[in-house]
Amino acid sequence: MTKKITIAIDGFSSTGKSTIAKQLANSLGYVYVDTGAMYRAVTLYAMQNNLIAKDYFKVEELIAALPTIKLQFKFSAEAGFAEIFLNGLNVEKDIRNIEVSSFVSKVAEISEVRSKLVEQQQEMGKDKGIVMDGRDIGTVVFPEAELKIFMNATADTRAERRYDELKAKGDQVTYEAVLKNVQERDYIDTHREDSPLIVAEDAIEMDNSSMTKDEQFNFVSTLVNDITKTL
Ligand code: DC
Repeated sequence: MTKKITIAIDGFSSTGKSTIAKQLANSLGYVYVDTGAMYRAVTLYAMQNNLIAKDYFKVEELIAALPTIKLQFKFSAEAGFAEIFLNGLNVEKDIRNIEVSSFVSKVAEISEVRSKLVEQQQEMGKDKGIVMDGRDIGTVVFPEAELKIFMNATADTRAERRYDELKAKGDQVTYEAVLKNVQERDYIDTHREDSPLIVAEDAIEMDNSSMTKDEQFNFVSTLVNDITKTL
């Protein structure tokens, strides 16, 4: 049996990290964890409890509430991946709207939020055989990961993809609003003090602006095969 490895997929928002990560996990029989969903679920909690809105953010109250926020992933055969539950409720769909997207980077700046989620992520990946995507997986969560991919694409390409996704779900958004959100999140994610989005020294960069999904999958699968052969 081939030895299981840890695969860290980091990169800018809407680069298609989760698509490739899910495909990889399914093909390898690995667990897939979308860490962005965890930051989004904490953000949803903050919104539902009036801790964050356009004109305020009650940071200390959110920090105090952290022990009561329980996040779980449960595999859904229908979806084909593990969906996220917030305090027992499936919130997989609720965390994807533009409102959550507009607040999530602010919540992800809070060190107390990050350390709680990083600890849970490390626990989930302690036996390897995991594909985890996010912003700090190769740098903070699993600095020893055998394979680190850093995904990128132009902001326009990413905004177009996100806009098409949201429209297909029936969301009333404009392309300009989506582009603005992508650019704002890029800025906050790369400039925050705690665990900013940076390329790990040993990460392999993949700009997928003009790559098909098959090309991306083949590129990453080849890397996995090359690494597992050497173990
Ligand atoms: O991957 P995503 O777009 O769903 O992530 C939502 C936000 O969460 C993103 O703007 C930054 C934050 N995030 C983070 O700070 N660290 C991670 N490991 C994953 C996401």
